[in-house]
Amino acid sequence: MSYEKEKQLVAEEAVKLIKSGMIIGLGSGSTSAFFIKALKERIQNESLNISCVATSLLSKELVTGFIPLIEESLRNEIDITFDGADLIDLKTFHLIKGGGGALLREKIVAARSKQNIVLVDSSKLASPLEGFPVAIEIVRFGYESTVLRINELGYSGHVRHKDGKAVLSDNDNYIFDIVFNGPIKDPQKHHSRLKNLLGVIETGFFLETATKVYIGYPDGKFEIKERP
Ligand code: A5P
Repeated sequence: MSYEKEKQLVAEEAVKLIKSGMIIGLGSGSTSAFFIKALKERIQNESLNISCVATSLLSKELVTGFIPLIEESLRNEIDITFDGADLIDLKTFHLIKGGGGALLREKIVAARSKQNIVLVDSSKLASPLEGFPVAIEIVRFGYESTVLRINELGYSGHVRHKDGKAVLSDNDNYIFDIVFNGPIKDPQKHHSRLKNLLGVIETGFFLETATKVYIGYPDGKFEIKERP
């Protein structure tokens, strides 16, 4: 089974957690897109009464006109959020997110959610976390000075570009991808150091949020793990 099929499998399983009346958080990325598709099918077949908030403009586009959206001020608590990840360490439930550049909204939504369900294919498992750049959302104004401060702490990487242009997050900020050589042994330490830097808005380390993870495997099976 391909990674895409694994993503679809966990999305179709996890959508069974949704009950009528819930406020739902919808993540970003290709796994979340499978989830949104499965959710729309359930809503059509069962006339579920739900409302949602999306963690990216792309995900919002996928649901607009199909699922009522709640106020983005997040006055209301979210019952359950479903999102993908770039990496997960199943021993600690630490995640790396932000491959799609939506980390800030994803983290704000996760923090307002009673439950956070992470949906991953088997390529995302890494204990310790290793092998994927960690996205940092930084303010555009003075960004070169922020990059210098990041470099002074010993981190290297690059401002994310696409088609020759710096990528803008949904919040009009830049994304700086830090490349770690080797395993990330103390993500909490890296998160705190980076988060304290002037010009850094948020890091792609999601250390406290995940409550449950659905993992798809190449043999067509899936596994559900609760936060240790
Ligand atoms: C978006 O910013 C990310 O955090 C995504 O959740 C993550 O990159 C997973 O994406 P896929 O589901 O496309 O692998």
